[in-house]
Parts: sequence; structure tokens; C-alpha cells
Amino acid sequence: MKIFLDTANIPSIKTFVDMGVLDGITTNPTLIAKENREFTELVHEILGLVPGPVNLEVVSQESAGMISEGHDLAALGPNIVVKCPMTAEGLKAVRKLHRDGIKTNVTLIFSPNQALLAAKAGADYASPFIGRLDDAGHEGMKIIEEILSIYRNYGFETRVLVASIRHPVHVVQAAKLGAHVATMPPDVLDKMVKHPLTDIGLKRFLDDWQRAGLKLPQGRPSSHMKPKPLVQRA
Ligand code: G3P
Repeated sequence: MKIFLDTANIPSIKTFVDMGVLDGITTNPTLIAKENREFTELVHEILGLVPGPVNLEVVSQESAGMISEGHDLAALGPNIVVKCPMTAEGLKAVRKLHRDGIKTNVTLIFSPNQALLAAKAGADYASPFIGRLDDAGHEGMKIIEEILSIYRNYGFETRVLVASIRHPVHVVQAAKLGAHVATMPPDVLDKMVKHPLTDIGLKRFLDDWQRAGLKLPQGRPSSHMKPKPLVQRA
């Protein structure tokens, strides 16, 4: 399962890029507004950090506006994915952008039927919002299972991008179901890194090491790890 970070926050993105665990980024108008920065400059900074897909959302409500915004967003970089809302106009825009060779993600999906239509329109990604379904008293993860099964039945290539993830259990559930992507806020990814038994175990190892007064070898290059010559000889 690919892991995307659901944020436009540069320090958070840097942290997880450095760990090597990040496959892409999703944003939405709310997340972009939170950063309080000029949009294009912010996007370029994100693109400079993340080699994978960077999802940016259109804000028009009519398909013509979404198509035009989609082209402008896609021009910002080769790995841009244009997010369109799950509306009739959004589906029209997805169909056209798909035909124009632009990658798309249909966002704000809350039912298997909406996901089926997103796939038929040619979306590269479908984003069901499971946390918001949970909030409304439904079992959000159930629709992930249903969508994956529908896509498998008909060989749709649309990737299921599980969105509105609220905690690490959501991530495990999405992975067990075989979802293609999970996008999550930085605090959820941070919680996935940590476990109290890891901290306790590490402390015990280091205490025992110190008590024994041991030392690691000092950093001399060893004979089997010679640095490669800078200039290759013929
Ligand atoms: O990716 C969708 C996500 O941004 C929505 O999350 O927590 O606002 O429901 P949330």
C-alpha cells in the first residue's frame, strides 16, 4: 500500500521524506489555506521534495472551469494529480482531463456507487472519505471493501485512495483490505512510527550498554567498504 501524506505543510513533508516512507501527497483547499502561503510557490516547494504524485484540487464548480484549472495545475509539474469533486460536473471534467492525458482523483466519495462512476469516467484515483462516514454513524471502512471488490470484478484500473483517515487502526484496516493508497495527516503517520515497547526496549539496551562500559569501534573506513573512485577508469 502506498502511503500519502494529507498535508501541504513543508516541515511535516520533509520529516517523512527523510524517513523514506512517503509515496505522495494529497491536499485540499482547507489544507492549502491552513499554510497561509502563496499557492504556486508552496506547490513548487512540495514538488521539489516529493518525487511521487502530488494531488491538487480544483475549486470551480462547473466542468469548464475545472478543466481549465486542471490544465493549469497539471502544468506545474509532471507528477501532479488533479482532484475533482464527486459531482456530475466533476465527472465531466475527469472524463475530459483523462482524455487530455492528465491524471485525476475523484474526491469526496461516500458510496460504492460514486466510486463506480468515478472509475467509469476514467479517474486514476477514487478517494472515499472513511473518517467522515464514521463521524456520520456509518462504518466507513465497509465501503472500501465494497469498492475494491467492484473494481476487481470489472478490472478497473482506478486506484482506491483511502482518505479522511483518523487513526493508525484505519491504516491497518485499509492495508488488510488491499487498498492501493492510504492518505493520512502527519499525526497519524507519526503514531505509526511509535510504540511504547520500542521506547522501553531501547532504553533498556542503552542502560545495559552503558553499565557494561562498552565502546563501539571508531569510524575508520574498513577494507571491505572502500569508497568508489570518483573518476571511473576505462
Ligand atoms: O484527504 C481527505 C481529507 O483531507 C479529509 O480528512 O479529516 O478532514 O475528514 P478529514
